[in-house]
Amino acid sequence: MISRLPLLSAAQCDEIVATLDRLNWADGLAPGKLYRERVKGNKEIAYQMSPQTAPADELIKHINDAIMGSSHIRTRMFPKSMVNPRFNLYCDGGFYGPHADSAFLGDNRRQVRTDYSMTLFLTEPDSYGGGELRLTYPSGEEMRLKEPKGTLLFYPSGVMHEVLPVTAGRRIAFVGWVESHIQSQQERDLLTEITTLCDDMMADESLALTEFHTRALNVKHNLYRMWWKGQ
Ligand SMILES: [Fe+2]
Repeated sequence: MISRLPLLSAAQCDEIVATLDRLNWADGLAPGKLYRERVKGNKEIAYQMSPQTAPADELIKHINDAIMGSSHIRTRMFPKSMVNPRFNLYCDGGFYGPHADSAFLGDNRRQVRTDYSMTLFLTEPDSYGGGELRLTYPSGEEMRLKEPKGTLLFYPSGVMHEVLPVTAGRRIAFVGWVESHIQSQQERDLLTEITTLCDDMMADESLALTEFHTRALNVKHNLYRMWWKGQ
């Protein structure tokens, strides 16, 4: 399931980009020179990358709070923790070729399973050429996504994806990976459906807290009891 929601205002995005413009971008993190040449040709500012990029850490904390505080996200991703948050910049032909995200990210002390990959667009789609996020499914079906600034897009990390070369302008985005409390996509989809069903019933005065609503709530809570992993 691909999901999108407006997370930040245009003004908030402009403020973030203005802060990033005062910092130094590094070559995107890659496992070796060959990978950088063939697969990943972008720039990044990562969380706690260096004392010089410290202002970005505050921005990342705010974005993390906005993501974790969103009820839309809580009822779809069931986020447990986020890992490797960073800003990235694509310009002058910058690209990230077709790749598979690692199943686990983190460091020696803490590894996080990547259930969802997120992209928060921070520059307007018509301000740069190319730069579509392309998802390719095993069936061969593909999607090309280029969202308005402030929009957060999240998709299952197991889908092959890439960022097409940016031929003009600058594509700046925030990216991060999330481990979900619910490992199975099918279970997540069912929990989303029963949760939104219960919420919709609560919002309808003729249905709210009737016996039917209460029974639906009971099913919902029992499914959470069965499938929820971790605190
Ligand atoms: Fe990726």
